[in-house]
Amino acid sequence: MKNINKIAVLTSGGDSPGMNAAIRAVVRSGIYEGYEMVGSMRGYQGLISGEIVPLGSRSVSNIIQRGGTILKSARCKSFYEDEGRKIAYEKMQATGIDALVVIGGDGTFTGARIFGKEYDVPIVGLPGTIDNDLYGTDFTIGFDTAINTVMEAVDKLRDTASSHDRLFIIEVMGRDAGFIALNSGIATGAEMILVPESPTYIEELFYVLEKDWKKNKTSGIIIVAEGDDSGGALEVEQHINERFPDFHTRLSILGHIQRGGSPSASDRLLASRLGHAAIMTLKDGVSGVMVGMTDNEISMTTFEKAIKHHQNINLELLDIARVLAI
Ligand code: F6P
Repeated sequence: MKNINKIAVLTSGGDSPGMNAAIRAVVRSGIYEGYEMVGSMRGYQGLISGEIVPLGSRSVSNIIQRGGTILKSARCKSFYEDEGRKIAYEKMQATGIDALVVIGGDGTFTGARIFGKEYDVPIVGLPGTIDNDLYGTDFTIGFDTAINTVMEAVDKLRDTASSHDRLFIIEVMGRDAGFIALNSGIATGAEMILVPESPTYIEELFYVLEKDWKKNKTSGIIIVAEGDDSGGALEVEQHINERFPDFHTRLSILGHIQRGGSPSASDRLLASRLGHAAIMTLKDGVSGVMVGMTDNEISMTTFEKAIKHHQNINLELLDIARVLAI
């Protein structure tokens, strides 16, 4: 077991609601266990540039309810180069940092896996991304808040869709995964949900629309995941307009509102439990793992597995969504 006195925490990649709650839990658990806690600003970049800030219990007061990350975040390209990691390690040695807690997605864990092996640095990861696409945890920090944000937006769009007898095609985030689209689509009663994990056949989409309209549906919601093979909401809208020129369609790409906002109770709870578990994992001498939550229990997955495998989407939910949209 490596002797650990000082631990740095960082947030890297796309920010997600709940990252601050996780930082707070890591810092306070670390202090409680007798470690000196610091933060690396802008993810791995702070390790390279030396932008390291001391973190005491008061530094993380009044942030559990805030979206974003007080440590800022970035996708640090130079950390994926040997030279960049070498500088980061030298800076860690110079500032007495013995171990890292990294909060992010698979890009962040890729860097952690390489760095941990190269320099034998104890590193533990926490799943912080709205995409919920990480293997080894039922939910990622930020996913619940993101689908609630989408739900609130779609509910508003459904109001105007039904007022004007319009069909709204709404694009949501998720990178190559459809978790945000699928879960928010069911939560909003969407007529159709298009996800990357299930091929989209435009003729099938036309068939469903025709059937719905024959049943005197006058408004509707189609949720499209940004990574769907249809190419996105704009393409889907263009197809529909060509096929059904009489339909009144409107497009809405929700964008980065899905990344912000005060974290939900679920995300705060998840972030707090995982933040605490990250410190206990380092204390137990375990490294090179993502700490997640599986069946409401703390679980550990090696960075290799968390990166290589993909969280599987439950495609049966797509069929259920169709049944519920009749
Ligand atoms: O990974 C989080 C995420 O928001 C994805 O859903 C989205 O594809 C991407 O990041 C957007 O990245 P950026 O903020 O760099 O535009």
